[in-house]
Amino acid sequence: MKLVIAYIQPHKLQDVKKALYKAEVHKMSVTNALGCGEQRGYEESYRGVKYEVNLLKKVRIEIAVNEDFMQKTIDAIVEGAHSGTIGDGKIFVLDLVECVRIRTGDKGRAAIG
Ligand SMILES: Nc1ncnc2c1ncn2[C@@H]1O[C@H](COP(=O)(O)OP(=O)(O)OP(=O)(O)O)[C@@H](O)[C@H]1O
Ligand SMILES: [Mg+2]
Repeated sequence: MKLVIAYIQPHKLQDVKKALYKAEVHKMSVTNALGCGEQRGYEESYRGVKYEVNLLKKVRIEIAVNEDFMQKTIDAIVEGAHSGTIGDGKIFVLDLVECVRIRTGDKGRAAIG
């Protein structure tokens, strides 16, 4: 099992959702986040002096998947979020140790899928 965590531009959320639905990925958690990457948050918004970081609004998407869904999940996020400009976002993939569906007690593969 893997946990896919993506930080994307907020205005790309609808496109990412659409691409995920197309890839039959329907389960996700979405939260607002503040962040910066390589440019420390500056060139994305204005030409500032880089003596500190500037946190910009991002959307964080978390999706727990079984291994066979990992690549299509990543591809869908890239398809929906890519514009080719700085700040498009980043995807992290973590090994996921366990998942429990609270209602049924299902664990692992069955609980995720
Ligand atoms: N190494 C990191 N650790 C944690 N969060 C990160 C990291 N890199 C990027 N992020 C998160 O992802 C968001 C988008 O990053 P961003 O797309 O600007 O990455 P980048 O490496 O600067 O690439 P680019 O040069 O295309 O802008 C950041 O605002 C931040 O929330
Ligand atoms: Mg950046």
